[in-house]
Amino acid sequence: MRMYDLILKKRQGKPLTKDEIQWMIREYTDGRIPDYQMSALLMAICFQGLDKEETYELTMAMARSGEMLDLSQIQGIKVDKHSTGGVGDKTSLALTPVVASLGIPVAKMSGRGLGHTGGTIDKLESIPGFSTQLEDDTFEEQVNSIGISIMGQTKDLAPADKLLYALRDVTATVDQISLIASSIMSKKLAAGADAILLDVKTGSGAFMKEESDAMQLAKEMVEIGKSAGRKMTAVITNMDEPLGMAVGNILEVKEAIDTLKGNGPDDFVELIETLASHMLILGGAVKDFDEGLMRVRESIQSGKALDKFKQFVAAQGGDTKYIDHPELFEQADIIEEIRSEQDGFVGSIDAQEMGICSLILGGGRETKESVIDPTVGLVFSKKVADPVKKGDVLATIYGNDEEKVKQAVLHFKENYHIIEEKPTKPIMIREVL
Ligand code: URA
Repeated sequence: MRMYDLILKKRQGKPLTKDEIQWMIREYTDGRIPDYQMSALLMAICFQGLDKEETYELTMAMARSGEMLDLSQIQGIKVDKHSTGGVGDKTSLALTPVVASLGIPVAKMSGRGLGHTGGTIDKLESIPGFSTQLEDDTFEEQVNSIGISIMGQTKDLAPADKLLYALRDVTATVDQISLIASSIMSKKLAAGADAILLDVKTGSGAFMKEESDAMQLAKEMVEIGKSAGRKMTAVITNMDEPLGMAVGNILEVKEAIDTLKGNGPDDFVELIETLASHMLILGGAVKDFDEGLMRVRESIQSGKALDKFKQFVAAQGGDTKYIDHPELFEQADIIEEIRSEQDGFVGSIDAQEMGICSLILGGGRETKESVIDPTVGLVFSKKVADPVKKGDVLATIYGNDEEKVKQAVLHFKENYHIIEEKPTKPIMIREVL
């Protein structure tokens, strides 16, 4: 086989066979296909697309390019969850202890934040002592003993995707839906769960700005998962404004703790309740959504979910006194309130730009090597459609550097809009597939 022929075939709009895809992924991962040839193929895919079979074969070839986790030693139906990422997305922190408290084993690998989006691993590591670097055996033992463990992605999880993603990033070939679907699903399938819940975000802070693209991505991922024999559900959710009130690592951990204590913001609570109910269905713990919702609410109200979170934090070396007393978390030195200059309603809050505010403050990574400051970020007091009076606090900025705080405040003001007419409140749950 020659890579030249595969590039030409795809350029002419013809489908690649399973053998061709497997050969190409193997040769590329082993360094026998140069980046310039792979880049040409990726660009041809952007113009000609991949059909359903090609997308599936590409996913499986990437998943099998490294270790395929075997979770069979963990009892029960393992349900994983994946979010396509957004701003203020601390969902896994609150969601996983809820479902674990209701008997669904959580064996999850998560990632770090990059650019304007945050990552679960960074958030968990902002709890003093918490470790996300676990051996496979420790990970499995912990899930068997307390029902939950979250660790960082191992180096050997879908290495072909890692190489291809880095190449796509610099060749303007990231935003092709079949390439995104196969990239995400290769890691999810390699991580070994029996069932997968996908939270596909849409709006200004999401990868998929348009709802129709989010739907297409969700459909492709669900098809791949089902073809690989996994139970799948996808929920399309709002990311047109930041999720919840907090953006920034420690600030988001505190909000997740509040939510587990029954005091979460409405949009975040609705998301957690919905996703958790679908995970319970996937895990066979309940017969329908309403029963799931009842069980989820009961777990939060009774304190069972919070207890599970504490058990989880303790098992991974974290200091649980921060869960009981979140006021002990380190705080940023500069705390600045931003007030409204007019009466009206919050018209829009550009989620991506709010993520960039947090990035400016030092809360995100510009590059993979950047060191993040877990104390910085912002907390909103008003969200879209809330009424506002002149002088009301719109948000509070947390920073450690005067110049960066100044810049973040300016950026905030450019991207947070007050209007005269009350807009409709954004709908959190757009679609379930
Ligand atoms: N996230 C991934 O893991 N892969 C993509 O291609 C896009 C987002």
